[in-house]
Amino acid sequence: MDGMWETLQTGGSSVRVRTAGLVPRPERVHLWPSVGEYPVYDAFLYHAMLADRHRNELFRDAVTRQAPGAAVLEIGCGPDLLWSLCAADAGADRVVAVESLPDSVREAEELALERAPGRVRVVAGLSTDVTLTDRADLCVAELVGCIGGSEGMARVIEDARRRLLRPGARVVPHRVRTLAAAVCLADLMPRGPGVPEALVPYVESVFDAVGGFFDLRMCVGGVGHEALRSTVDAVEDLRFNDGDCRQGGPLRLTVKRPGRVDGLLLWLDLQGRADGARLDTLAVRTSWLPVYVPFLWAEPVALGVGDVIDLRVTCDLSADGVHPDYRFAGEVRRTGGQRVDVTAESLYAGPEFRRSPLHAALFAAPEPTGPAAAAAPVAAARPR
Ligand SMILES: C[S@@+](CC[C@H](N)C(=O)[O-])C[C@H]1O[C@@H](n2cnc3c(N)ncnc32)[C@H](O)[C@@H]1O
Repeated sequence: MDGMWETLQTGGSSVRVRTAGLVPRPERVHLWPSVGEYPVYDAFLYHAMLADRHRNELFRDAVTRQAPGAAVLEIGCGPDLLWSLCAADAGADRVVAVESLPDSVREAEELALERAPGRVRVVAGLSTDVTLTDRADLCVAELVGCIGGSEGMARVIEDARRRLLRPGARVVPHRVRTLAAAVCLADLMPRGPGVPEALVPYVESVFDAVGGFFDLRMCVGGVGHEALRSTVDAVEDLRFNDGDCRQGGPLRLTVKRPGRVDGLLLWLDLQGRADGARLDTLAVRTSWLPVYVPFLWAEPVALGVGDVIDLRVTCDLSADGVHPDYRFAGEVRRTGGQRVDVTAESLYAGPEFRRSPLHAALFAAPEPTGPAAAAAPVAAARPR
């Protein structure tokens, strides 16, 4: 396996991460850490969302059709106030925008003054902490994770319905399904996994945010439906307007293309409003990259057409009570009758580090610098 290594530090411990290239090349298969759930947004990431044509069309259509005359609440407006300004321009009665990151709040306040004075009010804080005097009848929340619920949206909307929204209020997006199929990352990245050098600071920021190293959620750019080896099933189905948010449950995938398998690819199928168009994030390029969840196998396993991967997905809230941990457990049943156990996980924080083959290949102990450091172990994660 070739590649370069870069050292990163968190809380006094260091680790090396394997890199591949300088910057992510959208047309090539590449890895990105999943960052939205921590949240470690910066100008570059906000710009990526601002430029995400498919995402923005979906939200713009849903907001402009439902905002006229409505009292609107945007949760997580970022610095650009996209959906609050869109609602105000569409004729909303009033708009309140809540944002938790102080820098983003400052920029949003300036923009509100400039673009919609007296029509958009920006409130600083987490939606789950703020109290508002009036309830809204339309809630726009782009808190959709690369696994739909990974940014805690189910919990945030449940709280908003209880305290911040009127009975029967509509939510945008209307529905977010997270789909899954079997893939082989080792075949998609035959030179071995690596994080583009420009993205290493994001890996460090995620470790800083949770206070230690752990098997962080990794996204894969540059892949499409052609990467899938199996049929597709849903891991999550968040129906924000039907009071029915299913997270986890049975997942059955049947191999339809023979070859090696080493994990799952998860991506989104979104709907902005009930009768609106759907967005398949594996079919077009969006800022929601598919997530790769490695099976905890030592090596990829060759599977044949008709072999079945039967999993149970559990989704429990992590220690912060908002962000979910996803766990997968079950078996592969080959057409010849043999069975192979399968487990996998995609957690918000530790404590496991270098447990999966992907993370064991991506991270290594710091380079020894003296005799005492010769057998330096990779620092263990601190559980939250
Ligand atoms: C994915 S960004 C979306 C930004 C913008 N609304 C857009 O669509 O481009 C999510 C934003 O929500 C903020 N955020 C996440 N959870 C929040 C919460 N519960 N309350 C307030 N802000 C939140 C984050 O800081 C971030 O700025």
